[in-house]
Formats: sequence, structure tokens, C-alpha cells
Amino acid sequence: MNSNKMWGGRFDAGPAAIMGEITPSIDFDKRLAGEDLAGSKAHVRMLSNEGIISKDDGQSILAGLEQIEKEIAAGAFVFKRELEDIHLNIEARLAEIIGPAAGRLHTARSRNDQVVTDFRLWVRSACERADHGLLALQRALLVQAGNHVETVMPGFTHMQVAQPVTFGHHMLAYVEMFARDRGRFEDARKRLNESPLGAAALAGTPYPIDRDFTAKALGFARPMRNSMDAISARDFALEYLAAATILATNLSRLAGELVQWSTPQFAFVKLSDAFTTGSSIMPQKRNPDAAELIRGKTGRVLGDFVALATVVKGLVLTYGTDLQEDKERVFDAADTIEVSLAAMAGMVADMTANPEKMRAAAEPGYPTATDLADWLVRVLKKPFREAHHIAGSIVKKAEDAGVTLDKLPLTDMQAVEPGITQDALAAVSLDASVNARMSLGGTAPARVKEQIAFWRSHLK
Ligand code: ARG
Repeated sequence: MNSNKMWGGRFDAGPAAIMGEITPSIDFDKRLAGEDLAGSKAHVRMLSNEGIISKDDGQSILAGLEQIEKEIAAGAFVFKRELEDIHLNIEARLAEIIGPAAGRLHTARSRNDQVVTDFRLWVRSACERADHGLLALQRALLVQAGNHVETVMPGFTHMQVAQPVTFGHHMLAYVEMFARDRGRFEDARKRLNESPLGAAALAGTPYPIDRDFTAKALGFARPMRNSMDAISARDFALEYLAAATILATNLSRLAGELVQWSTPQFAFVKLSDAFTTGSSIMPQKRNPDAAELIRGKTGRVLGDFVALATVVKGLVLTYGTDLQEDKERVFDAADTIEVSLAAMAGMVADMTANPEKMRAAAEPGYPTATDLADWLVRVLKKPFREAHHIAGSIVKKAEDAGVTLDKLPLTDMQAVEPGITQDALAAVSLDASVNARMSLGGTAPARVKEQIAFWRSHLK
């Protein structure tokens, strides 16, 4: 076999056949084609502006790159595994189109700064796509919240009925959670948005390049200060994957709730046919597949993070081909969170809450026992610990009688605590309990309305 025409000058013989299997990255890094072309265009403009290459060569390289862009968009570009990666594929095609001038494009550049420039651009867009997906999901949650400001449901701790809350409040808890996810992608985007281009192989270059120009042309805030760091750093990709992992984890909690809420036992929400699938054996089934898949996909996103962290761990500066393993992990995580976000936003918009079922589920389990204790503290000035004890005894009586607290005869309550009056009964209804939780961030409809107003003016 002949030596490689892109880098084979000092080689006598070609690589072993297996090298053709293990080396190529084109099957996946073709996804960087757009970024690679953008990087090359910025680089060639700079080379020509600085007189490092002639204006004529600059023009013809640019024209060739534009033709390649069209070929790729039209699906006419032939990606070749023997050309290893996207960078060499594009450069080889450029040579076919414009001839030997193509060889000047790689002046003052290395694939090492080229690949990480492409990758930063790609991850930057991925951060923006995650943000858009999250915004759409927040909007869907906010609509549900607005429709259910006063819908009472059981709030759970330890998966036991704890205190009544409103469904709107519950939806808004996720709006908050996803706002923090957006913050993480925004931070990651901001930190990664520096240009490694011009770091060349690792040490910089003797050509009089203008790194500020290329940085600006590619929308980077500034060039990276240290050429070795520019080549080596993959913490930006890890940061993206960390944000993706936390997002996937947060999504899995909502997904888990949808799975539970859509069971016939809960029936808090109904997903339409659009978001359920049937069983091939049990005709009655309506499975919340998308929610289950979103929950399940958390594992692979975390796996992507762990895989790349393991690649980077202990890797000496600067570039090692180990780093070629960075892209698939990020592509996989990005594809996964993007489809998960879209499916989740779709499900949240699609689901119909069932306020009757929610209220009915909040009745048993004495979720207003705390309100009775609070009444004893407020009206009879009992210490909370003692009030807790009294309320506990009353719950036991109600349980024995098989009724909810507000249906227990007043005389039964008075047998435990003679000071209890009729208005204690009013305090232990579900609505009274919810309405009473007026503390900042509490579940009272008045507070929920404030949260909704906040998010309506802040979501963008
Ligand atoms: N395909 C390589 C990667 O993904 C591009 C950089 C190759 N650089 C090198 N010196 N072999 O990392």
C-alpha cells in the first residue's frame, strides 16, 4: 500500500489494514462539516489579509470551500474513510476542485487546533439548542400551572401523602429546576466561547497570524491565551456533558412522575393516544413509553460523561489521538437530551390533569393533620410538640371511625382536647390547608399566581 498523501512524506509503506478500521473518524465527525468549513473560511481570509498567502489563492480557496458547502448541503459530497476525518476529506476535495493552491489552506494551522475549533463551535450550538428545548418545556409547564392554580393534589414525602398542594405549584417546581439547567448550559457556553484557532499543533506558529480576527469571525469572545491549553482542553465538553447529565436526571424525575400519575391507580393525568403505546399482548394497556424512555436515557447520558472523563483523565498535554473519542460521546448526549426535551415538552402540553382524582387521592392519609396542630398552636397557644401529640391522637380517632379529619364530630375532638372549637374543623379542610400556606414560595393559590406572573414576564 502507498503512504498517505496527506501526511505520508516520511513514510515508505502504508498502514496495516486494521489501521483503516481503527483510525477513521469520518463516520461521526462528518457532523462537524459545517463548523469545519466556517473555521477554514475564517482562517483563509485571515491568511490572505495578512499576506501569508496571496489574494488570488485566498479567493480560489474560498470559492472552493463554498462549492464544498453546496455539495454537502445537496448530499453530493462523498465522504471517504481512507481520508480519515472531516478535515482531510474537505481538504482533499478542495484540491480536486482548485488544484495545488488547496495545499496553502493548512498554512499556520494544524488539525489539532482545527478539530477543537470545530468542536467548540459545535458544542456552542448544542448549548443553544438545549436552551431552546428547555424554554419550550418550561412554557408547556407554565401553561399547565396556569390552568391548575387551585387544583388540589396530595403532596408526597417518602411517597406517603404528606400535605395538600396545588398541581400548579407542582408544575412550577419543575419550571424552577429547568431554569437552573438553562443556567448551566449558559455558563458552559460562555466559558467555552474562546477560540483555540491559531494554536497550531501545540506551540503556536511563526507566521504573523491574527488570532483576534479569526476569533471574531467565528463569534468567539476572544482567542485562548495559551496555545497548549487551547489544544488540550476538553473540559468544555465535559462541562456540556455534566450539564446534560444533570438535565437528564431532572427530566427523569418528571418522567417518573408521569409514569406514576398516568397509572389507572393514580390517574392524576391522562396522556392522549399521541403519547401512549399499546401492548402486543394486553389489549387494555396504555403505556407511557416516551416518559419511560426519557427516564431510561438518563443512564446513557451519564455514561457519555463518564466515558469522556475517563478518556481525559491522566492524559498528558497536549493532543493525543485518545481525544478523537470526545465527539461521539457529546453527539450522543446532545441527540439524547434534545429528543428527550422535545418529547417531554410534547407530553406536558398533551397531558390532561384530572382534578377529581387528585382531590380524591388527597382525602385519605390525613394530609391536614399538620393544620390541626397549627390551629392548636395558633388559637390555644399550645407548644408545637404538644399540639403535634394531640393532633396525632385525633388522627387515630378519625382513623378508627373511618372518616377524614373535617368529618370527625367535634365532640370526638373535644374528648382529646376540650379547647377545640368548630372553627378547627374549617381549618382542616384541604382547601383551607392549601390557602393557609401563604409563606413565600408556599403552595397557596395566591402565591402560585405570583410565581406564574414572575415566569410569564421572565421566560424568554
Ligand atoms: N480526527 C482527529 C480528532 O478527531 C483530528 C485531529 C487529528 N490530529 C492529529 N494530529 N492526528 O481528534
